[in-house]
Amino acid sequence: MAERKSSEPEIELVATARRVLPGGGFGNVPHEIVIAEGRGSHVWDVSGNEYVDYLLGSGPMIVGHAHPEVLEVIQQVASKGTTFFANNPYGIRLAAEIVDAVPCAEKVRFVSSGSEADAYALRLARAYTKRDKILKFEGGYHGMSDYGLMSLAPKRSGNFPQPMPDSAGIPASVREEMLVAPFNDLETVASLVREHRDQLAGIIVEPFQRLIPPKPGFLEGLRKLTEENELLLIFDEVVTGFRFAYGGAQEYYGVTPDVCTLGKAIGGGFPLAAIAGRADIMAHFDKGAVAEDAFMVQIGTLSGNPIAAAAGLKTLEILKRPGAYAQIFKTGRALMEGYARILKDARIKAVVAGDAPMFDIVFTEREVKDYRSALGDETAMKRCNALLREQGILKSESKYYISTVHTDEDICSTLDAFARTVAALRDARAA
Ligand SMILES: Cc1ncc(COP(=O)(O)O)c(C=O)c1O
Repeated sequence: MAERKSSEPEIELVATARRVLPGGGFGNVPHEIVIAEGRGSHVWDVSGNEYVDYLLGSGPMIVGHAHPEVLEVIQQVASKGTTFFANNPYGIRLAAEIVDAVPCAEKVRFVSSGSEADAYALRLARAYTKRDKILKFEGGYHGMSDYGLMSLAPKRSGNFPQPMPDSAGIPASVREEMLVAPFNDLETVASLVREHRDQLAGIIVEPFQRLIPPKPGFLEGLRKLTEENELLLIFDEVVTGFRFAYGGAQEYYGVTPDVCTLGKAIGGGFPLAAIAGRADIMAHFDKGAVAEDAFMVQIGTLSGNPIAAAAGLKTLEILKRPGAYAQIFKTGRALMEGYARILKDARIKAVVAGDAPMFDIVFTEREVKDYRSALGDETAMKRCNALLREQGILKSESKYYISTVHTDEDICSTLDAFARTVAALRDARAA
């Protein structure tokens, strides 16, 4: 296996990072690679090592890095000023595009990160229903707010519906406001809704939770339960929005929530996210449309930033072109099938979980259907990712993101690297 090289500038930067950043990094990926450049489906670190990139900036770079058309528009926009804290044409046009594309979206409010969008979506459910509790799913990622960090990645299995905080510093009282259920388990959700109906404001769910597809009928069941009990259904589409289909997972699975959150793809690589939903619910953001005590104040210095909105708008224009999603699905399927074949031939006990735009392997023999069954052998996973990195394949710790610009050559080199990785893992187990 080829060794990645570390240059003097990289060693120096890593040392500086260790000195000035907690944990030596920005808190995102755990490894110490310092990325200098990205083009298309590849990135280069400061030592000049090249990688096929499945990290894609954790999702936003769905049309590839430094896409020439995106670059051209952001350069034009930036030359006329970079932020105004006032309406701008690009933000207005991006909101209109979201309303046209996303089934639940009648109105849109921009913020700067998915975490913010999720926090406001939860507040919106509370403002609309005048109830406090929210139901989320164990392992569901809804950003870094106190509420989002309930049972995101619990180390110990608690009893449902008791939430487990994933971070220090969260007030104990927040646990009282959240209920947690296992993903894909409609029966548990139904009984929790029955029991807590009078206090429940809504259910927030990733329609495709991390790597776990919804079982047939699960999202439809959530829709029915929330409608019957007058709760809001919130889809967190920060990842799936404009990725599973142009209208997101709600179009892909054919279930329309009341509200959704969007991020990643809609900012084209810049900080931009959104809450989108039914007009009567979104009215809580409009001082003129609701009573004084029903109004939700929401202000953000960079909300709807023109460069981010222009980059997002151009990214969506590229995704809307014929063949874009077919290309993403073709690449993802080829990789998923290739991985499954390599694992089977090597008799390694692992499953390829997910769907073509987003997948990974889980070192387990069980069906992956919820957070607990998706917990595979983490040591094997870390080793696998590190071996791939050494061979020029970059990904997050638990996900491959697919872009429109990954090539057949990328697929071949990735499958070759994966075959060598699996052989090394098998040899290490045999030793
Ligand atoms: C489903 C989901 N929701 C929310 C977020 C938070 O988004 P951000 O990192 O922009 O705050 C993420 C981030 O990966 C996510 O995957």
